[in-house]
Amino acid sequence: MSRPYVGILLDNIIYNGIPRGRTGFEHLSFYEEAGIMYDFIPCFFRIQDIEPRGNQVQAYVKGENNKYMKQSVPIPRVIHNRALFNSNSDYKKVQQLMNNGIIVFNIKNRYRKILVHEILLKNNELHKHLPMTLIADENNILQMLENYDSLIIKPNNSSLGLGVMLISKEDDEYKWAFRNRATKKYESLTFGNQLPQNLLDILRKRTFLVQQRIPLASYQGNPFDLRVSVQKNQTGHWQVTGIVGKVANGGNYVTNVARGGKVYPLDVLLEGKNLNKDQVYKAIEKFSLQAAEQLSSELSGLADLGMDIGITEEGFPMFIECNARDLRITFRNAKMESTWKATHTTPLAYAKYLLDTLY
Ligand SMILES: Nc1ncnc2c1ncn2[C@@H]1O[C@H](COP(=O)(O)OP(=O)(O)OP(=O)(O)O)[C@@H](O)[C@H]1O
Ligand SMILES: [Mg+2]
Repeated sequence: MSRPYVGILLDNIIYNGIPRGRTGFEHLSFYEEAGIMYDFIPCFFRIQDIEPRGNQVQAYVKGENNKYMKQSVPIPRVIHNRALFNSNSDYKKVQQLMNNGIIVFNIKNRYRKILVHEILLKNNELHKHLPMTLIADENNILQMLENYDSLIIKPNNSSLGLGVMLISKEDDEYKWAFRNRATKKYESLTFGNQLPQNLLDILRKRTFLVQQRIPLASYQGNPFDLRVSVQKNQTGHWQVTGIVGKVANGGNYVTNVARGGKVYPLDVLLEGKNLNKDQVYKAIEKFSLQAAEQLSSELSGLADLGMDIGITEEGFPMFIECNARDLRITFRNAKMESTWKATHTTPLAYAKYLLDTLY
């Protein structure tokens, strides 16, 4: 049998960069290597290139001259989605493909944080790893302040660290720290037993969560957390492909690279701490795999997760959030080349596993 195609669905902007070799965070040559490893041909297209009733799709395929050429190929039976869909019609299209027996994984890759939290809460074994979390309204925040000295308030959907705020107790007062959207600078305001009106105004405009602030372990005086790549592999099971640390930029309380966070391999961050590295890795792995299993029991088609996981100074893993389309670049930025590559090839190993279930 000739080598089958495996599809990779991309966003417009990445797709348009293919002829010039400018594909941003998608490193196409890693997908090509996976194609050689697993004996299939990767091809790249967008959702708008698909005509679900048709049999063919116009896709970029690497030619013998090492250049990408557009060509008409049979719609692949297995497709790895890397795009964010914006409209219901995109989802409908994917649904039609699935109805025709085509497997698309990672279809939906944005979930509200409260939904993820609620699914994880259903598993008792995970409770101790979940910070107390409620929808952020006046009552819930005041109630949480009775139990915790420090709270994080963050948007229910994606923010790249932008909308994340902190409330912390200082003597008899509280300090509210936030990023001023106009000046782009961090500011703070103190208050007593009533929440500042500005905060209440912000909470009215968008849904936020209020969380117990996890006492994150620190590196050179700044808190850090981890990006953990949890992916399905060639056996169809979840694996931890890589762990990388993100350290908050001087004095900040968010570690996002988009907010100046610096990235390091976890080994570096654990140096000088009185912890057993193997045990810390094992604990993170165990929790991440359990969390991935739990999430995929309710959210269909998950195969490629980028979890934000904090550890306490004792090395205990605490869940922060789960991204269902990790851009994977944290690994490149931390100079973890082989892990960065593995975050691309592992989902295609899973694609191979899926192909084998079909033929
Ligand atoms: N409960 C918490 N305790 C301590 N730090 C937290 C907590 N929640 C968030 N943070 C800090 O804020 C950062 C950003 O929060 P989070 O990862 O939940 O959202 P986000 O990255 O802004 O969202 P998205 O990835 O969807 O853009 C985290 O990486 C962490 O450094
Ligand atoms: Mg995050």
